[in-house]
Amino acid sequence: MTARLIDGKAIALALRNDIKAAVTSLREQGRRAPGLAVVLVGADPASQIYVRHKHQACEAAGMHSVVHMLPADSSEADVMQVVHQLNNDPAIDGILVQLPVPKQIRGKAVIDAIAVEKDVDGFNPENFGLLAQRTPRLRPCTPYGVIKMLEHEKIDVSGLDAVVIGQSNIVGRPMALELLMKGATVTICHSQTKDLPGHVKRADLVVAGIGKPEYVRGEWIKPGAIVIDVGLNRLETGKIVGDVEFAAAAAKASWITPVPGGVGPMTIAMLMQNTLEAYQHRESKA
Ligand code: GUN
Repeated sequence: MTARLIDGKAIALALRNDIKAAVTSLREQGRRAPGLAVVLVGADPASQIYVRHKHQACEAAGMHSVVHMLPADSSEADVMQVVHQLNNDPAIDGILVQLPVPKQIRGKAVIDAIAVEKDVDGFNPENFGLLAQRTPRLRPCTPYGVIKMLEHEKIDVSGLDAVVIGQSNIVGRPMALELLMKGATVTICHSQTKDLPGHVKRADLVVAGIGKPEYVRGEWIKPGAIVIDVGLNRLETGKIVGDVEFAAAAAKASWITPVPGGVGPMTIAMLMQNTLEAYQHRESKA
């Protein structure tokens, strides 16, 4: 078996073009553009790159996009002040505080301070709870992007044994809820899991989001399984790899996402989608 690639880059581009068309249509009707604000605290190089990509993507779609850069020694009150100001800014529909934040700041407190209708990350307890209850509103971008990729390829996960590796609030947990909502039988594996290879070997669908380069061995993959790699790791050589040993896994899987060019571009597209949805929701109430 040689896996078919799920081309996240192409799927994301198509989505971004649809969003751009929707924004163009709004502007032609004389309406304001949807607005996203990204808050970056400190100078973590990876976060800087992610934030730049998010900003550029929004601008390319004709959205209003602002980035607030705060110094690494900012206090929690400094960050809260920016969040409160953005909560009250009528031109802003979506607010994202890039994680991780420096350790003197409680990430959860900051996320919880974002107005629920502007929480385009879907990390706020209300949005997370709505997803858990199968009535999602704003949904975490990376898992939402994975679902869009599966839908694009018409891959039906209902009844499949899905194994999600990683239990983070950003990827693993909301991913499990998304797959459960699609009818998969979901297992979440994490650092305390006794027999990770055993779980992966039984899985029809594997989603890896652990942040460890090529940790998931190709030989663990069940023949014909679907492999979704959320990892993005830079090796000392400079090469970018995922959490899955790609070539060996691709030899056994039916479908696989590449790294780069798989899940990563989808995360940005879904952030834009969420910003548009937040705009439409706010405008409908205005
Ligand atoms: N850091 C890594 N991924 C994400 C994400 O999806 N949203 C935010 N806010 N921070 C992140």
